[in-house]
Amino acid sequence: MPTGQGDVPPRHVKGNHRPPAMSPLAFLTNPATPGRKTERHRKARLAALGAGALLAIYALLLQFDMAPAWLGGGANSVSAVAPRSCGGHHQGPAVGSEYFHNRTVLYDSLSGPQEYSFLSSGKTSQSLKVSDLFEEKDGKLVPILKEQKVAVRANVLHVDRKEAHQMYQTVKRILSRYGFGDTAVWYQDPDMYHMSLWHASHHLDPVPASPREVGLEIVGVTQVTHKACPLRVSLDRVVLTSTGVVLGLWQLLSGTEPFDLRQQLRKNLPRSPETQLYDPVMLHTSFARILKGPDSRKGVGNESGNMASVLREAAEELDKELCGTQTTLSTLLYVEEWDLLALALDGRITPRLLPLRCGEPIT
Ligand SMILES: *[C@@H]1O[C@H](CO)[C@@H](O)[C@H](O)[C@H]1NC(C)=O
Ligand SMILES: *[C@@H]1O[C@H](CO)[C@@H](O)[C@H](O)[C@H]1NC(C)=O
Repeated sequence: MPTGQGDVPPRHVKGNHRPPAMSPLAFLTNPATPGRKTERHRKARLAALGAGALLAIYALLLQFDMAPAWLGGGANSVSAVAPRSCGGHHQGPAVGSEYFHNRTVLYDSLSGPQEYSFLSSGKTSQSLKVSDLFEEKDGKLVPILKEQKVAVRANVLHVDRKEAHQMYQTVKRILSRYGFGDTAVWYQDPDMYHMSLWHASHHLDPVPASPREVGLEIVGVTQVTHKACPLRVSLDRVVLTSTGVVLGLWQLLSGTEPFDLRQQLRKNLPRSPETQLYDPVMLHTSFARILKGPDSRKGVGNESGNMASVLREAAEELDKELCGTQTTLSTLLYVEEWDLLALALDGRITPRLLPLRCGEPIT
């Protein structure tokens, strides 16, 4: 693989009405991907997003994070968060910057129980039920893929596979020990561990693109990746959201600041949805989604038979074992997702790997 490390196996597109998933660098010779030419009335759509935009965004986050029914959203639902941070031990030129501080404040807010209400209130008309996303077959979870009319076009930082697989093994070992079996947890494919930066189109505000426009977007993103330097990051904490998502929150130690990366992507992708999905300083990875309680009563931490305490203990252990993990992000993935949540659910994607080349500084 030309990039040395961001080696992502392309997924094959089922059916014949979609372009085949390309080899990651195929765009160098074949930038055109069949797309739809229909222009939509984006302004009307944006207006529809309107004042509720932020809520919708959090709803999307939630939807992506999938509230399991057994966690519920009511008064007696489980507030299972691991507010501990292993931060404060980070070292590097980016540590202590304004953005570093803002990330800490943001992560504190995501860890604290006060955020629990927004997570549960996110269950709006937009949100999906777990049963819409998975079915059980032969003792395994099988995602139910929903084809998108307009592909989601995401720019994400790809997590090096070596570290990703180590983290995956740790997450799986700990959750298994707590009794969560194959149908209780959906594990993110470690080959696809990533941190979302920017969407050129997302399903709340789809921006159709012709093959030519996709090619232009890739050129625009490549201009950013040629300047951007690899990001050395450290896992600041792992939280279990009230919707059951095991979420890693990262700090930047050195390299290009994510806030600057997003600003450059905004500039170079002028057709992007005005409303983006994440806080501009946030760096997060979804490791797993807990869908239901442990399969057996054999799991550790169930002495009390109290689900909340089982979850809390599991979350604390995940945090303790994983925080401080460092990795270098040296590849940006521009990825078309042909199914809803394709990156999360092993759906059909067309990825392009764009190495961060650390040229002239971003201005
Ligand atoms: C960081 O936080 C400060 C204080 O809340 C705020 O003024 C500033 O705009 C924030 N910067 C970013 C990039 O979010
Ligand atoms: C925990 O143990 C109790 C008592 O043995 C059992 O009834 C319950 O189903 C177990 N809960 C889980 C989540 O395994």
